[in-house]
Amino acid sequence: MTDRWAEELAFATDLARRAGEILTACYERLDRIDYKSKRDVVTNADYASERLVIDAIKARYPGDAILAEESGEHAGVLRDDGSHNGRTWVIDPLDGTVNYANGIPYYCVSIGLVVDDVPTVGVVFDPARDDLYSATADGQAMLDDEPITTSAKETLSDYVVSLAVIGRGGLARERKIAPLIRIHRRMGSAALALVYVANGRFDAFIQNGGLSPWDVAAAGLIVERAGAVVTDVTGGPWWNAKVRGPRTSVVAAPPSQHAALLDLLASVKTKLQTRR
Ligand code: IPD
Ligand code: CA
Ligand code: CA
Repeated sequence: MTDRWAEELAFATDLARRAGEILTACYERLDRIDYKSKRDVVTNADYASERLVIDAIKARYPGDAILAEESGEHAGVLRDDGSHNGRTWVIDPLDGTVNYANGIPYYCVSIGLVVDDVPTVGVVFDPARDDLYSATADGQAMLDDEPITTSAKETLSDYVVSLAVIGRGGLARERKIAPLIRIHRRMGSAALALVYVANGRFDAFIQNGGLSPWDVAAAGLIVERAGAVVTDVTGGPWWNAKVRGPRTSVVAAPPSQHAALLDLLASVKTKLQTRR
């Protein structure tokens, strides 16, 4: 915990809990489920949670910008000199909507604050377990009031990994990694699975694409502050403030095994690469 971001952290913590109350109240009592695409659904709970979070941010920090999954970008009020304060709240009001809409209690609220393109405050709240994960850029990762750290397991063969692979070469990568670890799981809430690495519930997290900024802004910071190495699938930075669409990949693991996982992922050539 640090003093510098203490106010924003307390604000985001309270807000995530209040948004979580909405999700809990609507759980298994949904008015309607809309299909955004073949695989993507959205519920009235997504919208109600997002409304609450956005209204609270606009009231407390009118100069801050907001990037939210359901309503997109909201500009903050500019300063007298016309400049922006460089702060953006990045929100997923309900991560794991397919689980939620199906009555599977594995979902969360994710609220991140990015300052000058750097993830700075992150809160992920799991209403089903009443677990609140948080971190600031200069503080320790916490689960509720306890500091948390990543898995201390020594060998990859003991690892339980959150593994979600998509697209060309995805299955080949899964087949490459699966025999070398204890087991892999695909949970359906990237933000919650990612913060599970922060306290060792998962030993590592891999998703080779399809993630959006609101899936990772808070959770990526939390797992990093818990001691994990966090990158994209090529070993580059996991956070890119310019990206808007679902183009992000994340590999998060304790320092001892992160490079080995990246090597395994890179060792699988897609058909396209092989033909070249
Ligand atoms: C999705 C979940 C899922 C991940 C997708 C996300 P949503 O978010 O986090 O686990 O694989 O890439 O879009 O739609 O439930 O908020
Ligand atoms: Ca999401
Ligand atoms: Ca969502």
